[in-house]
Order: sequence, then C-alpha cells, then structure tokens
Amino acid sequence: MKRKIWIDCDPGIDDAVAIAVAIAHREELDILGISSVAGNQTIDRTTGNALKLTSFLGAMDIPVARGSACPLTREVVPAPEVHGATGLGDCRLPETEKKPVPEPGVAYMAKVLLALPEGEQATLVPLGPLTNIALLFRVFPEVKEKIKEICLMGGAAVGGNVTPTGEFNIWQDPEAAKIVYSSGLPIIMCGLDVTQSCGFTREHVRQLKESAQDVARAYGEMEDFSFNKTVYREREVVAVHDAVTITYLLHPEWFEGRKMQVEIDCSEGHNRGMTVCDHRRPPREEDKVLVLLKADVEKVQAFWMEALLGFVS
Ligand code: RIB
Ligand code: CA
Repeated sequence: MKRKIWIDCDPGIDDAVAIAVAIAHREELDILGISSVAGNQTIDRTTGNALKLTSFLGAMDIPVARGSACPLTREVVPAPEVHGATGLGDCRLPETEKKPVPEPGVAYMAKVLLALPEGEQATLVPLGPLTNIALLFRVFPEVKEKIKEICLMGGAAVGGNVTPTGEFNIWQDPEAAKIVYSSGLPIIMCGLDVTQSCGFTREHVRQLKESAQDVARAYGEMEDFSFNKTVYREREVVAVHDAVTITYLLHPEWFEGRKMQVEIDCSEGHNRGMTVCDHRRPPREEDKVLVLLKADVEKVQAFWMEALLGFVS
C-alpha cells in the first residue's frame, strides 16, 4: 500500500524541491494534500507558490489548502534574503487557474485525515513553521488517531541558522513546535545536523539549467538564485533542507540518527526556538523523536537530480 502523506510547507525553494521529489514518486506516495503556512514568505506568496508548483509539476489533482498567515503568538519574519521576493528566487513559474480549497487549511486537513478509512493513517510532512500542525492538534485532537508519524524539517541537535541556536522553522513559531513535540506522536526530525550537507553543487545547478526539460531548467533557476544572491554564494553546496524529509520516507537506509528527548526553548532570549536535544544518555523507549544526524549525501543528490530531470514536459 502507498504511504499516505500530507505536506505542510512555506515554498520556499527547498520546499519546492521536496514537493517535486514527492510528486516524482506518486507510485509510492499518496499525497493527500498540501497546506501552506507563512514562513519563508507571506501566506499569499507561499499559497500561490504551492498552487503554481503543483500545476507546473502536473499535479493539478493535489488539493492545496491555505493555512495560517502568522505564528501562534508572534509576528511572521519572512526570509527574502534566502528565498527572494516571491519565495522562489528569480524563477517565474507559469500562472495557474488552480485555486485553494475553500475551507481554512487546518479545517481541510482535519476533514481529509478524519475521513481516512478505519485502520489507515497518514504521515505528516511539515516543511515550515509548525503553526498549522499545532492548530490542527489543538482544534481537532481526535485527528492524532489518524497520524502514523511526523517527518519534519526543523531544529538541530547542534547549532542554528537564524541564530546560533535557532533553526528557521522552529524559531519562527516555538510555541507551535512545543505543542507538536509534546503531542506524543513519533517524530522524525530532519534538522540542520543532516540537512546542511544535503544539497546541490554548482555542477548540479549547471546540469539542471542546461536541461531540455522545463521543470529541470526552472529548478536550476531557483538554485542559481541561491548560489548567486544569498548566503550560499560563498559555499560549495546549497542546502535543500526540506527535501530530506521526503527522501528519508522513501529511503530511510540512507540515513543515520538516534532517538533523543527534545525540548523547545520558547524564551525571548538568545536561545529562542532552540531544540534542546538531550544526547547525554542512551535512547529510551519513551523518547519519541528520532533525530537524524548523517546522510549518504551522494545517494541523496543523485536521487534528487533523477527526480528533477525526470519531469518530461
Ligand atoms: O531552516 C531551513 C528551513 O527554513 C526550511 O524549511 C526552509 O524552507 C525554511 O522554511
Ligand atoms: Ca520550508
């Protein structure tokens, strides 16, 4: 049976890669829907990007639901310096007639998940701030019965990117992360420890840009923006954080990690949004969070390139 997944995202260049890799593997993944959240860009832009991406990638049938426009208690802090003014760098995807579902995103997520047949569950794949997921659990707690696990991009056992200890998704909405991490559901945490090394090189971007296929060229344009106009201009690899989640679900054997107790720092101090991972003691059965620490980067890179080059227009 296909693995049922729900993607919650803030596209976002690396979110866009994750969506493409998922759509390239629909024979293994039943993508129930995609919800947008404010994060990398405003909710209008992340929702519009999700609509354009699913249309452009030949997946008009995947419903897109508009989620929260802001974190639970804080103001959203978009990241145009990383994802550009549109959220997809300098890439201009074709316009689409596709509209989001009429229901509020969280209500629609609950409707779809609660409608799953008896005994069936889905995997949540959050790729942005956890605002929608926290609201889902608070407003529709019964939905947890329908969730097998959460495979999220966020946090770090060591370090941060927005601050020395805060990773963007958790830092944006620490209160939401606290609700999700204390939900009691199994979590696979694809944090910076594993995602920083998983990305495209300049050679990969050249291959994408020179492809005869529209999708590959568009993604080459997105990654070219990252390499030439963002913090990545000095680096060898443009991290594609979000796509690690989908890749783990399809090839867990390419990754190493360990279960840890994880707490979220919701202070206003310099550790705001820190995922405090307790690696002092051996894993215990009650530890719900599997923190990924290493990846077979070459296999991951080849997998992503095969997916992006495989969209034949
Ligand atoms: O820290 C990286 C995460 O923040 C990724 O999900 C990226 O898209 C941004 O949302
Ligand atoms: Ca994201």
